Amino acid sequence: MDTPDVIRLLAGAESSGATLLEAIDALGPARIAALLTSEVAFRARLSDLSLRLVAPLGIVLEFLHGGRSFATIVEIGPDGVRLCEELEGDRPETVLTQDLEEAVRTVYGPRDLVSVASQVVRWPEVAVMASGGMAGQGLPSAYYPFVQRVLRSLSRREPADLAELAAECGTDKWSALHRYPEHYDRHFGSLRERRLTVLEIGVGGFGDPGAGAESLRMWKHYFPRAILYGLDIEDKREFDELRIVTVRGDQSDPVSLAAFAEDVGPFDIVIDDGSHVSADVITSFRTLFSHVRPNGLYVIEDLQTSYWKPMFGGDDSDLTDPQYTMGFLKTLLDGLHHEEFLRAEAWEPQPTDGQIRGVHFYHNLCFIEKGPNVEGGLFAETLRLWGTRGKSSSG
Ligand SMILES: C[S@@+](CC[C@H](N)C(=O)[O-])C[C@H]1O[C@@H](n2cnc3c(N)ncnc32)[C@H](O)[C@@H]1O
Repeated sequence: MDTPDVIRLLAGAESSGATLLEAIDALGPARIAALLTSEVAFRARLSDLSLRLVAPLGIVLEFLHGGRSFATIVEIGPDGVRLCEELEGDRPETVLTQDLEEAVRTVYGPRDLVSVASQVVRWPEVAVMASGGMAGQGLPSAYYPFVQRVLRSLSRREPADLAELAAECGTDKWSALHRYPEHYDRHFGSLRERRLTVLEIGVGGFGDPGAGAESLRMWKHYFPRAILYGLDIEDKREFDELRIVTVRGDQSDPVSLAAFAEDVGPFDIVIDDGSHVSADVITSFRTLFSHVRPNGLYVIEDLQTSYWKPMFGGDDSDLTDPQYTMGFLKTLLDGLHHEEFLRAEAWEPQPTDGQIRGVHFYHNLCFIEKGPNVEGGLFAETLRLWGTRGKSSSG
């Protein structure tokens, strides 16, 4: 199981030297070198480059620890990217060497710990020139962008743009249908570099086991230090990889949802992009909101379905009906003002009243911000007192 190991590395990468060394010893440097290489290859977004290659090319990622070196090759070829121990044939390779501890902090730690002080790059040109050739001779032009992407990813440069990632990864979050990334960026931007647990309901691809995970991959790029859980009513295990864990489950079933949240939560972020059936959306929110960490966010996509009877069983005849998503969310706005009602019977207290600090709406999208909502309503309190005094003096 990779996930507990990655969680340990994410924690170790931001702690003292001794704690990180303990983690390295416990997991083993060879295993960590392989995990790092896999992470770096993912972040480097190499697949678009492979289209221009006719023969495979490789880069060796070599990590040094305790006087030993642990190396894996990232090979990119016409069939995609793979990690291997040896390249086929006699091909030139660039070797990137770095201290293992420094690389763990750079890849999995907070951005202020990024360092490439120990990094050394050995180009294959040395061998080419030593045998009488010229620098660059024989190397296809795609080789340099390939090395550059790996180096960029290994040094954590450039936070990728979310709209670009969405379009590249193939999720409809940025498409003819939606323009969600700018809103996500506004609310998620400050969390990007944090160690996070994120859940998205709806992996994608519906009944096709080979389709989906586009948004999970987008979030994996966007949040380099997050573990991403994807819950879907269909089996999506095929998409499990480093930092992505899919779980089969029905968002309309509060018992299994709660058990799952107990097991892997609490969550920093929950995104509901599942069935979009109002009853399911409301059940999931009621069940999972208590498993969101303080200051976390609960996001609901595709709010328009709340008005649509066909396919989603929504309704637009009473826009405040709380059995539909939009009517229900409007009740959260009243809950936000639970301290301001003058008559006790005006509001039936809800468990979320004191826990929702903000509700932000955009076209088809809502962010619910978890945080204390106990500011008090001084004026309302005064008016209530006046009301009771007025009653008692007139009575
Ligand atoms: C719109 S897709 C998700 C797309 C993905 N989040 C993205 O942005 O690329 C909706 C997914 O929700 C899943 N789904 C439908 N009903 C569900 C339910 N009751 N519980 C969990 N998942 C459900 C479907 O199988 C489908 O894969």
